[in-house]
Amino acid sequence: MLSVEGVDAFYGDLQALWGVSFEVKEGEIVTIVGPNGAGKTTTMRVITGLLKPRRGKVVFKGEEVTGLPPNKIAERGISLIPEGSRVFPYMTVYENLKIGAYTKRAREHFNESLEWVFTIFPVLKERLNQKANTMSGGERQMLAIGRALMTRPDILLMDEPSLGLAPKLVMRTFDIVKRLNREGLTILLVEQNTRFALKLSHRGYVMETGKIVLSGTGEELLNNEYVKKSYLGI
Ligand SMILES: Nc1ncnc2c1ncn2[C@@H]1O[C@H](COP(=O)(O)OP(=O)(O)OP(=O)(O)O)[C@@H](O)[C@H]1O
Ligand SMILES: [Mg+2]
Repeated sequence: MLSVEGVDAFYGDLQALWGVSFEVKEGEIVTIVGPNGAGKTTTMRVITGLLKPRRGKVVFKGEEVTGLPPNKIAERGISLIPEGSRVFPYMTVYENLKIGAYTKRAREHFNESLEWVFTIFPVLKERLNQKANTMSGGERQMLAIGRALMTRPDILLMDEPSLGLAPKLVMRTFDIVKRLNREGLTILLVEQNTRFALKLSHRGYVMETGKIVLSGTGEELLNNEYVKKSYLGI
């Protein structure tokens, strides 16, 4: 469904990605793990058109989307939940969800999508008129996910969705990821909770200093000696 092929990306003179290649097949949950500064968020930015790669390409559903503006990429069916689950703080829950449905493909399904989001996160229905900045961290995360779902994506990119959440909410985040996948969404996940993320993933990649250094099924990576030592502390 999605393939990233030989991508080099820069911030000014700093090269953040070096020949990054990987793929996500339809129906999969794929996780990228790696330390701070490895280039995980940069990879998400390249896929969603926020950063133009200097070399390489991004192919989605058989068509090259490299360098298209973010709104065009969203229109094709790629949606990102950014690091920190950012929402528009001074807007209400309803306004945030409405903004999620800005693409043409999403506008046509607005009511249907809203109902879908409410079945997954009933609390959002009760809080429609609450300003996002008065919600709890867990509720804001639901809203960020809900807003991304309003764009009717085929693939959902999630950049550290569990970051900063209490342990109970971390587990709930992973349950949500599994549920969305069961409902037909393909998911590319970036996570620091390596063990949980790899456990629920079909496949994964390890990224270090801008390069993919290891790949395999979730289970293979969980049993890999290097991953165990460097990422699982065992
Ligand atoms: N806007 C920017 N300008 C300049 N350098 C940047 C910018 N964003 C990221 N970088 C640099 O690019 C490299 C990769 O950063 P990136 O945010 O992709 O890492 P990450 O794997 O997402 O890390 P983390 O786990 O901490 O979120 C880092 O060295 C970082 O300092
Ligand atoms: Mg990051």
